[in-house]
Amino acid sequence: MRKWWMGGALALALAVQLAGCGGGSGGGADGTSAGTSTNTGTGTTSGTATDLDTPLRAYLASNGVVAPAEPAVSDALYNLGSVLFQSTLLSGTRSVSCASCHPIGNAGLDNLVLSIGVNGSGTPPNRTGSPLIHRNAPDLLNKVVGNPRFMFWDGRVSVSDGVYASPAGAALPVGLGSLAAVQALFPLLSRPEMLGYNDPADANELADLNAAGATVEQDPLPVWNGIMARLRADTQIAGLLQQAYPDTPLSAIGISAVGNGLAAFESRRWYAFGTKTYFHGYMAGVLDIPDSAKRGGLLFFGKAGCAACHGGPLLSDQKFHNLAVPQIGPGFGAGAAMTPPRDLGRHGVTGSDADKYAFLTPSLWEVKNTWPYFHNGVFATLEEAVRHHLDPAASAMAFRCSDALRSGGNVVPCQDSTTAPVLYADLVARLDPALKSPPKLSDSEFADLIAFLNQLTNGSNNSVR
Ligand code: HEC
Ligand code: HEC
Repeated sequence: MRKWWMGGALALALAVQLAGCGGGSGGGADGTSAGTSTNTGTGTTSGTATDLDTPLRAYLASNGVVAPAEPAVSDALYNLGSVLFQSTLLSGTRSVSCASCHPIGNAGLDNLVLSIGVNGSGTPPNRTGSPLIHRNAPDLLNKVVGNPRFMFWDGRVSVSDGVYASPAGAALPVGLGSLAAVQALFPLLSRPEMLGYNDPADANELADLNAAGATVEQDPLPVWNGIMARLRADTQIAGLLQQAYPDTPLSAIGISAVGNGLAAFESRRWYAFGTKTYFHGYMAGVLDIPDSAKRGGLLFFGKAGCAACHGGPLLSDQKFHNLAVPQIGPGFGAGAAMTPPRDLGRHGVTGSDADKYAFLTPSLWEVKNTWPYFHNGVFATLEEAVRHHLDPAASAMAFRCSDALRSGGNVVPCQDSTTAPVLYADLVARLDPALKSPPKLSDSEFADLIAFLNQLTNGSNNSVR
């Protein structure tokens, strides 16, 4: 009992801290104030309330919501990844590191609507400049656990039966140890994110290496090899490469070492399941959560239908759905060149009409901190993101662009149903059938659902403030 109380007190202290630093998130307050009332005392043992635990635990079991074990990572690879993650040598322009958009002290989250690439300056969320990247940068929590099948909002990096697929096709090197390791090689090839353009402002020895007629992603080896040449010439990184691969001559250590190092860093730095706090502690049976959050959990897995898509260890079905999320941003792939510009999501990978505007279901762990929400960061608060699910078509049509929608000082390019009626009609017509008759929730049910989402946080070892 004493131990349980300590856990509650710790959770509470962290909760107060979170409420203090929450920035623009409207989501923080509900969960923490609810946490106060239950965690300080009786929990469910007070006896009067209906039993919320038995059905909630049954839902967890039937939806496969379990905490994955932390993968083992070698110190040598972790140390390599830690330096690489913060090294601007990985960017053609030598101006950006992974941490420029995925700050280490904030779970890899920049909390910007759209990230800012090679010509930006400053540390998120106070990063300014250009160019605006096409999508919202996800947090980097739990990327190496729970058997993810896809990376990126459109899943353009994927694994099936142990075989990786990526925009690099056959050029993908051998020796990559995880999907996260594969993913980590692609920001290096992205002109707006790290490589730079073929213009004088971004001039660098890597920017022009791809063969005529091929994109950098289709002809990636010259850029990857060029980055390896830079890394081998750096005394500190050369030493770390050699320690991680002691049996391979330095000259033969290839770009897969960079992917594996970065994945090892992400794996250990951002494994965010513990037993001491919030819902993780509840799942482990060592901590209680407020009754409102339990009622919200019963809605999440029951009447509100959330778990149909947000189930399993990652609270994601690892599938793609069109939620008719308002179309903002510069567009992506073929959609960037269309008028008006658009992000066709999964369609860009499969070419299938059924995948238009569909995006990968994101994990909901730590969701209270991962604002702004959706693939393009269009909604600032958790409440808005959840409300959108409850009537996606009406929400999309009612959305209005405004100069107030900014990222790092830039007004975000934006389309709404008045400026792009044909695009919005198409977006809404293709809404995922599963959301065509969404659940009706009362105000108190909605509040309970938010209270549950606010508990899906660890707060102890992931540096989410
Ligand atoms: C200029 C900003 C920027 C930089 C630099 C950057 N990223 Fe990202 N990252 C993003 C954005 C934006 C996305 C989402 C892109 C998409 O889905 O199309 C993303 C996606 C990811 C994902 C996928 C997560 C998921 O759940 O699908 C991982 C992992 C990741 N980045 C790791 C890295 C690593 C490692 C580096 C350095 C090699 C890096 N990023 C550099 C902005 C950036
Ligand atoms: C039909 C599948 C589906 C259902 C059902 C569903 N979601 Fe989602 N959810 C998604 C997808 C896909 C996205 C990302 C959409 C995008 O960005 O375009 C998402 C995004 C979210 C986000 C934003 C997360 C982030 O990091 O940006 C939240 C919060 C969320 N869902 C909560 C819920 C809740 C609560 C419910 C139940 C009321 C629910 N979802 C039901 C598929 C679903």
